[in-house]
Amino acid sequence: MALANPVLPDYKNCIDATQPNETSINCCPPPVDPSRVKDFVPSATTVNTRKPAHSFEVGSDYYKKYTSAIIKMKNLSPSDPRNFRQQANVHCANCDGGYTQLGNPKLFSVHNSWLFFPWHRWYLYFFEKICQNLIDDDTFTLPFWNWDAPEGMQIPSIYNSELTSPLYDCFRNPDHLPPTVTNLDWSYGDKPVDPNIQIENNLSIMHTQMITQSKTPFDFFGKAYRAGDDTPTIGIAGQIEQTPHNHVHSWTGTISDQTNPIDLGALYSSARDPVFYAHHSNVDRMWTIWLNKLGGSNFTDRDWLFTNFIFYNEEAKPVRVSTKDCLDTTKLGYKYEDVPIPWLDVSA
Ligand code: C2O
Repeated sequence: MALANPVLPDYKNCIDATQPNETSINCCPPPVDPSRVKDFVPSATTVNTRKPAHSFEVGSDYYKKYTSAIIKMKNLSPSDPRNFRQQANVHCANCDGGYTQLGNPKLFSVHNSWLFFPWHRWYLYFFEKICQNLIDDDTFTLPFWNWDAPEGMQIPSIYNSELTSPLYDCFRNPDHLPPTVTNLDWSYGDKPVDPNIQIENNLSIMHTQMITQSKTPFDFFGKAYRAGDDTPTIGIAGQIEQTPHNHVHSWTGTISDQTNPIDLGALYSSARDPVFYAHHSNVDRMWTIWLNKLGGSNFTDRDWLFTNFIFYNEEAKPVRVSTKDCLDTTKLGYKYEDVPIPWLDVSA
């Protein structure tokens, strides 16, 4: 069998990343020595259910747990890799030029290619584990922002309750706060349309992206990205990564000035907004729907399966994980609540 040639980041040499205005930013997580990092293969014995964010009320028990986890994360020492800002930095470093490829000066990126789904799944996995650990509750799950169903097509209220909530972020577009209906393919300058029309448009976008346009794994996940390849660009991203994923980012986080988006609207800062993790939980849910309900299949290509990443775990220890070990969410200890999928039968 051919040896795999996966693209790997050079974790030993984290460098400054670049913000959209071209200034550099240091978002390097605490340094790791990759040769000393142990492999981690998950083998959960219980399976928790991630639920829609809009199903939780401000002040509910769930809200209290979730906010307490995030407060604790924010209060950890700034140098602790589990600290909330450090977690956001992990995204920044892997997305905006914090690493070159191992053995190659080209910048590494987890966007715009087939790495998008597995890397973000692992990223959320460790974020969720850290939450569980901090509140000492291994049944806690992240919610998902159910933007593909009418009930979920606005910023979920738990993220928008009060300015002092740890789930609130001030860098969201003030024109897009609830009850504004999310526009799943929003571009800067788009004018609001009638909410019912927006909902219909969104459902037909979902149908197109998940069904009509996602016939093969390359369509759905994105194109191959192997050792030595150029840094991937938007043209080879998978359908869901492009729309709605990218558009929900910019709809939420791009404020007055298109050239200077912040938090959810820009790669380097997007994971500073707690709603990022609910947004990505729904993106991750699309992977499960594509496989389980739409007849999709994972790649069997070894360069995909054997791509591995390093993350800090809930004990603040670095571990190495591999794409092949995240394909079954139940082994990671979670599944998604089986909520209605209103776009399955919508015509595009
Ligand atoms: Cu790494 Cu939604 O982005």
